Amino acid sequence: MKILGLSTMGNSAAAITVDGKVIAAIEEERLTRMKNDGGFPFHAIKTCLNSADMNFSDLDEIAVYWQPWRFMNRSIAVLKGAILDPKNIKFRAKRVMEIISGKKNKNDDYPELRGSWIDLFRIKSILKKEYGNFSATIKYYDHHDCHAASILYLANYKQTICLTYDGGGESDSTVIYSVNGDVQKRLKTILWPNSLGHFYSSFTGFLGFRMLEGEYKMMGLAPYGKPVFKEYILSKILQKKPDGEYILNTKILNYHAALHGAFSFELESKLGKPRKPNEEFTEHHHNIASSVQLVFEEILFHMLAWTKKQEPNFENLCIAGGCGLNVTANGKIIKNKLFKNILIPPAPHDAGCAVGAAFLAEKKYMKLYKRSNHHLKMDSPYLGRTYNDDEIKSAFENRGLVVPTKFNEKELLEILSSALSRSEVIAWFQGASEFGPRALGNRSFIADPRNDSIRDILNKKIKKRELFRPFAPSCKIEVANDFFEINQESPYMNIVANVREDKKNIIPAVTHTDGTARVHTVDKKDNLLYWKLIDAFEKKTGVGVVLNTSFNIQEPIVENPTQAIDCFLRSSVEFLAIGSYICDIKWRKEAEGK
Ligand SMILES: [Fe+2]
Repeated sequence: MKILGLSTMGNSAAAITVDGKVIAAIEEERLTRMKNDGGFPFHAIKTCLNSADMNFSDLDEIAVYWQPWRFMNRSIAVLKGAILDPKNIKFRAKRVMEIISGKKNKNDDYPELRGSWIDLFRIKSILKKEYGNFSATIKYYDHHDCHAASILYLANYKQTICLTYDGGGESDSTVIYSVNGDVQKRLKTILWPNSLGHFYSSFTGFLGFRMLEGEYKMMGLAPYGKPVFKEYILSKILQKKPDGEYILNTKILNYHAALHGAFSFELESKLGKPRKPNEEFTEHHHNIASSVQLVFEEILFHMLAWTKKQEPNFENLCIAGGCGLNVTANGKIIKNKLFKNILIPPAPHDAGCAVGAAFLAEKKYMKLYKRSNHHLKMDSPYLGRTYNDDEIKSAFENRGLVVPTKFNEKELLEILSSALSRSEVIAWFQGASEFGPRALGNRSFIADPRNDSIRDILNKKIKKRELFRPFAPSCKIEVANDFFEINQESPYMNIVANVREDKKNIIPAVTHTDGTARVHTVDKKDNLLYWKLIDAFEKKTGVGVVLNTSFNIQEPIVENPTQAIDCFLRSSVEFLAIGSYICDIKWRKEAEGK
């Protein structure tokens, strides 16, 4: 069967599966260049069809990640909130009207919200307008079931717990599943507006970061503070309830109001005025970030402890949903040893639901009701388009630039590993782009982790980003345990682990202020060329680790060769390795002289 999976509101994406295997998947943001684009994924659909070498008419089903008719719970919650909290009624009413009327959110501050609920009812006519008549059926799947499918079919666990948690689906914000062989059941469902995702996002806004995007920045800020507001938050805002449940007091912390920069009198009287985006960070802001992170973790462990009581013999945990991007919390689960293994997909957020919806469709069609027999698989996170050397050469020519020198693999690795060992920085563009928010070694800036000052150098050369934010390491899987307290792989860079005490001074550039690192383990079976680059660096330096940060400058990660060349020229890094070509300082001078 040929299935097109779609996520259409917030981190929109498309994915194509053929007979159970993911052939292509990409987020809309990579193509529209609008970070977290939540508009209808026209470009992503086109790119996936191209990558899969298919026409729209070849599709058997369009699998959608949301059941739009299930709005009753959310409507009641919004209504209840409006009665209890009339101050915020205008913010709630505005969003509800945008959703009901189908009027697109024009606010460029939140491209995530460009998607419209009403469009979900109109998918057939939207696609018909674009592609003409088609025979594929359109089916809608439960949002959290899609999140679960996006990870369950990556895992080979016979028995596992699956936690999906995010801002909210049709009516649910947290679902805990147990999967035992062929039997998958819901152990717990927590209904919106009680939402760990909206709790975290609202405080992201309170600290002056852009909500729905800056959550990872608040997480990076947390280790600098002390959790002095933890007890206040746990007693007044996010309270534990029996049986692993929690309740969010939306009268004090309201997500829709926070999106408009409005916070309750009670919150401001306790925590002061919200931080303005350009305001200096103070100890007070650090303390809020620390408190919010610890409360998030406390509620997470409250849920997991209850789950463990239900299924004490289950040793594996799968996590999906936007909250799965909280890598610090993921690392604490491993440290806490509640579960032996944890697995989080490369795209735990809503983009991943495009794959999840397609898997649910495949499962139904293939009549694979027994997990033990499933053929559903996603071999790799490298699911975007690949560009060959001819296409890369054309990109230089089309920009009127000199085509740089071409090298064979051995020469390329020698030149670049030598540059890295001299603490020069390289921009690296190879193979297909990664699905999900992380650069996993195909679209990366790469640097020497041994050089503590490289962080400042990188911030000057490329990132111009907040100095408190840590850079992450990519590490050969073979030596991961030598450098980090980690006993499992982390191929999608979504686990934080302690850097071993005797290694902190060896790789200071990727060691965060609290002694941790967001580890990316690299296995030669997943990404051979990137593994070889780290291996070549190790042969020169004795360190099988490099610093890896995404290939972009205040924009979505570069997708095609032209964007890579432009981004490289906007930076001042020393090398660009793009396919077999290497641009060096000499090439740059020539290019800039043009
Ligand atoms: Fe979600």
